[in-house]
Amino acid sequence: MILYFSATGNTRFVAQGLAARLGDEALDLLDKIRRSDYTPIQSDAPFIICAPTYVCEMPRFLTAWLRRTPLTGNRDVYFIFTSGGYAGISGVLARSIVRKKGLRYMGCANLTMPRNYIASDAYPELETAEIERRIRQTNGQLEAIAASIERQERLRSRHVWLFEVLITLPFNPVWSRVRQGVRDFQATEKCVGCGKCARGCPLNVIRIVEGKPVWNGKSCAHCMSCIQNCPVEAIEYGNVTQKKQRYRFEKYRYAVQDDGRVK
Ligand SMILES: Cc1cc2nc3c(=O)[nH]c(=O)nc-3n(C[C@H](O)[C@H](O)[C@H](O)COP(=O)(O)O)c2cc1C
Repeated sequence: MILYFSATGNTRFVAQGLAARLGDEALDLLDKIRRSDYTPIQSDAPFIICAPTYVCEMPRFLTAWLRRTPLTGNRDVYFIFTSGGYAGISGVLARSIVRKKGLRYMGCANLTMPRNYIASDAYPELETAEIERRIRQTNGQLEAIAASIERQERLRSRHVWLFEVLITLPFNPVWSRVRQGVRDFQATEKCVGCGKCARGCPLNVIRIVEGKPVWNGKSCAHCMSCIQNCPVEAIEYGNVTQKKQRYRFEKYRYAVQDDGRVK
């Protein structure tokens, strides 16, 4: 059973690509995370958990969900992380969660995809050719990953150094409070009040009030689901996003359309 969370489609593409190659089912965790649904999940096949990387680790809401949700049946758990090039300590956290559950950690794979984070000027926008190249490269890697999983082999990824763990764990809660506020999210007059942003928010931070989204609380995961998936591109983050292209995988699916297994 393949379990995944994806805000902008990269991880969904990977999860569905593996599902097609392994003849397995890919389950989107968005609703379970939104509803705090921790009912046990049973699978006869190995569990394959696919997630994006947020600030050098797995999304914290996914880590919390995984810690609480019993996984029954098969004892082997694989992880596949997508990132913009640095998956940080995600594998270390994954191994620790799986071992605490009494299950067997079967390693992780790190796949570089287009970076979807646009609420900061720190990361230059990627050229279309580079976006397409990353998607094709990842698509090419799925075959070998699926074959390894089928042979029940461990996946090998790069070594994570202790200093990376020691920096990331205390740094992230501070970063989240300081740099991942919700105050700067706003819907412009283009907003049609469709509510897609609210339905796609893993943390249930968005409410539709008088036909417009309102972001509640102080901070969120900044997963970019609301801003990137808005059908009329009506959501902005301060003045950082105004001139930026929106990214979601579906816009670039054509890059791998010639592969018959891509749905
Ligand atoms: C809040 C946030 C933090 C991110 N942090 C990292 C990071 O530390 N390293 C990295 O390489 N990519 C980072 N990214 C990029 C995503 O991991 C990458 O684009 C991922 O494939 C998005 O997956 P999705 O389309 O399934 O949501 C970050 C993205 C977001 C939204």
